Amino acid sequence: MGKLIVALDLKNKNKIYNLIERLGNRVDYYKVGIIPYFVCGEEIIKKLKKQGKKIFLDFKFFDIPNTVRKISEIIFEEEIDMFTVHLIAGEQVIKSIVETKQKLKTKTKIIGVTILTSFTEKDISFLNINTKIDKLVEKLVDYGYNWGIDGVVCSGEEIEMIRTKYNPPFLIIVPGVRIDEKNKKDDQKRIITPKEAIKKGADFVVVGRPIYENLEPEKVVEKILKEIEDGTENLD
Ligand code: C5P
Repeated sequence: MGKLIVALDLKNKNKIYNLIERLGNRVDYYKVGIIPYFVCGEEIIKKLKKQGKKIFLDFKFFDIPNTVRKISEIIFEEEIDMFTVHLIAGEQVIKSIVETKQKLKTKTKIIGVTILTSFTEKDISFLNINTKIDKLVEKLVDYGYNWGIDGVVCSGEEIEMIRTKYNPPFLIIVPGVRIDEKNKKDDQKRIITPKEAIKKGADFVVVGRPIYENLEPEKVVEKILKEIEDGTENLD
């Protein structure tokens, strides 16, 4: 069954810890990105682990192979559940972390970032590469799969294309998820509902603002979990 990952992109440590406490047993997976990590430091990892929560470390690495390999060694040793690296970082970077993972025999999943869900064709037109976003995503996923990653982050629009080509356990993680606020304007442009995402074959949906900006985050989470359940029953 599909799962929910709650993004903890809050600038205040107490608010972050409060949210985790309020959500309690409803949520197993948390996304720790640069914001909560910068605000709480390593403490947030220890705290989540102590509570038996799973961690999706989303720093979206994009650096030279030596640097990415070193940080991935730390992540593997800490037994973080999943972490992200930009596929555009290239073959050398990805292969070196895949090799490190095999050497250390860890279960940590390497997740490739394709094209950010806040991007539309217009946003990448300055690159002058004359390729449609879905084609670019497909190419990056093909490379990532062949280089040995465990899954990808993509927008709702690309789930079917990826799922048709790559069966589970290859993971599909989808941010840009909105409940009944499809018309609400924020920076996420390629958006989808939790139910649709799971129906199309996503393993995880990542949701941040709709949960932590709501005065009753528990209710939003429950609604999303119900949608995930409905989506699982109606898998395409
Ligand atoms: O607040 P919102 O629900 O838009 O949060 C989505 C989360 O997913 C953010 O933490 C964002 O950094 C992350 N994300 C994304 N698009 C990607 C990868 C990660 O929005 N392609």
